[in-house]
Amino acid sequence: MEKLIDEFEGDQRELIHILHEIQKKFGYIPAQAVSRISKQLKISESEIFGVLTFYKAFSLKPRGEHLITVCMGTACHVRGAPMILDEFKRKLGIESGETTEDNQFTLETVNCVGACALGPIAKADGEYHGQLKTREVDKIIKELMNKKRNSSK
Ligand code: FES
Repeated sequence: MEKLIDEFEGDQRELIHILHEIQKKFGYIPAQAVSRISKQLKISESEIFGVLTFYKAFSLKPRGEHLITVCMGTACHVRGAPMILDEFKRKLGIESGETTEDNQFTLETVNCVGACALGPIAKADGEYHGQLKTREVDKIIKELMNKKRNSSK
């Protein structure tokens, strides 16, 4: 990680780029990365945390192997997103923002993914599932579990 951060040679304009690289490599932004970047780019840690909390793409906690994001923006909300979110919570046994104990699934919400006409919508490992019905939630979870099994063959 140090090597990756040191490559940017103190250019503050590269902050978002560095954070993306770390997120890509580790799946989240470890606290020690924030302090290292702060020293390297001479930006305060609180400023970096401000950026991290502003952009939903960054996570300060390790995420599970599969990321499920339910859109809770207005258009999706009125089309039943709360019921979709509840179904994911019930099936996975976690709240939004949490990861299952086996580290398989992380459940998150977002405020709009830019496909309002297809609401309610959820993303599962980056794949969009539009006009979602609660009965389809189980299928999505099973598909993600199978994906893991198939890729480990
Ligand atoms: S509100 Fe859900 S995609 Fe826009």
